[in-house]
Amino acid sequence: MALTKTLFLLFLLSLFHVSTAQTVVKGGYWFPGSGFAVSSINSALFTHLYCAFADLDPQTYQVTISSANKPQFSTFTQTVQQKNPSVKTLLSIGGGGANVNTFASMASQSGSRKSFIDSSIKLARSNNFHGLDLDWEYPSDSTQMTNFGSLLTEWKAAVAAEAKASGRQPLLLSAAVLYLSYYYSTSVPYPIQAISNSLDWINVMTYDFYGPGWSASATGPPAALYNPGKRESGDNGINSWIQAGLSPKKIALGFPFYGWSWRLTNANNHGLFAPANGAGLAGDGSIGYNGIKQFIAQNSATKVFNATVVTDYCYSGTTWIGYDDTQSISTKVSYAKQKGLLGYFAWHVGADDNWVLSTTASQTWGA
Ligand SMILES: *[C@@H]1O[C@H](CO)[C@@H](O)[C@H](O)[C@H]1NC(C)=O
Repeated sequence: MALTKTLFLLFLLSLFHVSTAQTVVKGGYWFPGSGFAVSSINSALFTHLYCAFADLDPQTYQVTISSANKPQFSTFTQTVQQKNPSVKTLLSIGGGGANVNTFASMASQSGSRKSFIDSSIKLARSNNFHGLDLDWEYPSDSTQMTNFGSLLTEWKAAVAAEAKASGRQPLLLSAAVLYLSYYYSTSVPYPIQAISNSLDWINVMTYDFYGPGWSASATGPPAALYNPGKRESGDNGINSWIQAGLSPKKIALGFPFYGWSWRLTNANNHGLFAPANGAGLAGDGSIGYNGIKQFIAQNSATKVFNATVVTDYCYSGTTWIGYDDTQSISTKVSYAKQKGLLGYFAWHVGADDNWVLSTTASQTWGA
């Protein structure tokens, strides 16, 4: 009897062991430049946290963590697991500020791909991450897309081999990708088959559709879910990935915990796509959600939620800010769930305001 019971338990355990696929991704990126302490992340609101960014060495093509980032990166997992022991962490490589040519050149030769792959796995293991996330923004022509596919295929094989040799769970592999399943100006498609076979999921960057730096002359919904008559929307992006053949279960929908500001040409013309001239706030015009909440309070700004587009914006005088507030976030999370997606992610956790957006997202998805 006791033996039967034991065998049965072992059988049950083996079932759990083999089912390593994620059931939901409630993701959030953190980066040191945010000035937000890792120990302050409310990791209970997330299933996966991304530590951004590790760098790609342009000479050796090895993945490295800068010495300035080492203290926070090497203790990242241990720190965030204090509030949520089951949260998984991924070391994110590259990012929007990284040199895109270094990635293209690394991916073009099997020797440099191997340097990238072997060093990334070593780095993830030696710093206790559960996975790796590639943020190559973006492969753009057909050669680069093909090489991106080879890189993913070889990365997955190396990760599987390492897991077998070490007897550990394989590292998770994800990538942050453009909102469309093809490069927007060349129409060259991403290597869908390699992505599907090799990555656990992709983080689709369904945001930065409009910003004062690249669409200065009119306000816009930076992360519209819908955008009648226009290509730039989350729904259009997600549909393009699904139509290209990727399972919705491999897709996480992205949303920004920040907004973009514009300077209105006329304070009385303050809708979406109203005439503007550049950024409404200092610097590049971006502002974290916590800063937006302050701006609204200090200026008694008017707040609008447009349910057709699924965006929030606020304005005071000639300053106009487009962003995602709780209504946009909850609508998007419901959309992701209804669409059968794996989950969602936010850039970046340090810009939330008392965890209002993270809580809204997590609760809207549910358990
Ligand atoms: C929402 O935005 C769209 C696109 O600009 C616009 O056509 C629509 O009138 C707006 N809805 C409301 C209720 O203002």
